[in-house]
Amino acid sequence: MTNSFTYINDQLCVDGHPLEDIANTHGTPTYVYSAPRIRQNYTALNEALTKAMPRHKITLCYATKANSHIAVIKLLGDLGAGADVVSGGELFRSIKAGIPGTKIVFSGVGKTVDEIKLALTHDILQINVESIPELDRINDIAKDMGKKANIGIRINPDVAGGAHDKIATGRKDDKFGIDYDHALDAYQHAARLEHINISGISVHIGSQILITDPFRKAFEKTARFIDTLNDNGIILENIDLGGGMGITYIDETPLDPIAFAKMVKETIGRFDAHIIFEPGRAFTGDAGVLLAKVQYLKTTPSGKNFVILDTGMGDLMRPALYGSKHPVLPCMRHGQDHRPHSTYDIVGPICESSDIFQKNVEDYILHTDDNVAIMVSGAYGMSMASNYNTRPQPMEILCDNDHVTVISPRKSFDELIAHETIPDWV
Ligand code: LLP
Repeated sequence: MTNSFTYINDQLCVDGHPLEDIANTHGTPTYVYSAPRIRQNYTALNEALTKAMPRHKITLCYATKANSHIAVIKLLGDLGAGADVVSGGELFRSIKAGIPGTKIVFSGVGKTVDEIKLALTHDILQINVESIPELDRINDIAKDMGKKANIGIRINPDVAGGAHDKIATGRKDDKFGIDYDHALDAYQHAARLEHINISGISVHIGSQILITDPFRKAFEKTARFIDTLNDNGIILENIDLGGGMGITYIDETPLDPIAFAKMVKETIGRFDAHIIFEPGRAFTGDAGVLLAKVQYLKTTPSGKNFVILDTGMGDLMRPALYGSKHPVLPCMRHGQDHRPHSTYDIVGPICESSDIFQKNVEDYILHTDDNVAIMVSGAYGMSMASNYNTRPQPMEILCDNDHVTVISPRKSFDELIAHETIPDWV
């Protein structure tokens, strides 16, 4: 547990506020985020990097896909963060949250014409290009708009990184980036395009990476490639090293910001360039929990026990999609119940067998109507939520000192169907 989420007198609190009270006041399911913890996470990485490389300009472009609430983006923007976006929607959010275009990088393999236009309208820092057809498309659009587009080529270094297959992005056969061996051709192609300004390079190998090794491999390869570019007369302003810094969910040792910064200095520090990172999970992951209420306890004839919550895979998809584990903790500990118990699975109400949060729990007893916190849900929680089974998505609350503020309310059923129409021929 982080120092923002701790038990005080058997009550699980966020920065001193009992989550039990928040759940009872606002209902469940509800995401609760800690502003102090988000700030701490940003500061830890920022300080480590700026101490290791004091002469470099460094920008941490928050990967808004992790938690794209505009209040969260603004909170990080106020600390000096830029934004890493992967869609027109995320670009729109980032601008609304006050991030200047000059601090926004845009990655992703499928940028549409409208998305590229939006990026050029806001004169963003860099579009990270993932294919030659995309490069040509950006050039054509920039020409029509009478602009020059700042681009970096996202190289694919063929390095495996990421906690599991579905979030590794830097291997040869992944859809991301331009193959390492063809990247020079891509730069030379870009150099011939009149409405393209080669501003940098980007590399991102995956997510939830706990050790520096894969990063080191990818950054060493990137550095060798930048040398080749320099030999070919191509000088870069920006080196974007992506995100992927891993955190603790259960008992993992998180990536150490200081060791990471040292490795960046050793691999990339010799270049006189603006260094960009795109962390998402590392800023918001352990700064959020999902509050839920136990609805029923159920035992099958074979003796299997279930604790059924009012939240499921529609609200937090990670366990069902990746088999990810999130601790589920009671908001109030009942002293006498701290003992091993027959095991149970904690599940959601969704009509899918994959709607399971935790299997074979035996640490503590849960009762009907108990509130629980599904921990480390601040990244890739609400941003991946859906209304599957027509369940309103969780409400979101942001806490900071005395503030416990609803930053997005729960939608009513009317709001959920507000944009649906029945054609008159039905
Ligand atoms: N930059 C790029 C180009 C990315 O594709 C990603 C994540 C990031 C930055 C941020 O990575 P982070 O620092 O958050 O690891 N939904 C999955 C994670 C998918 C990550 C996709 N790309 C999960 O819940 O584990």
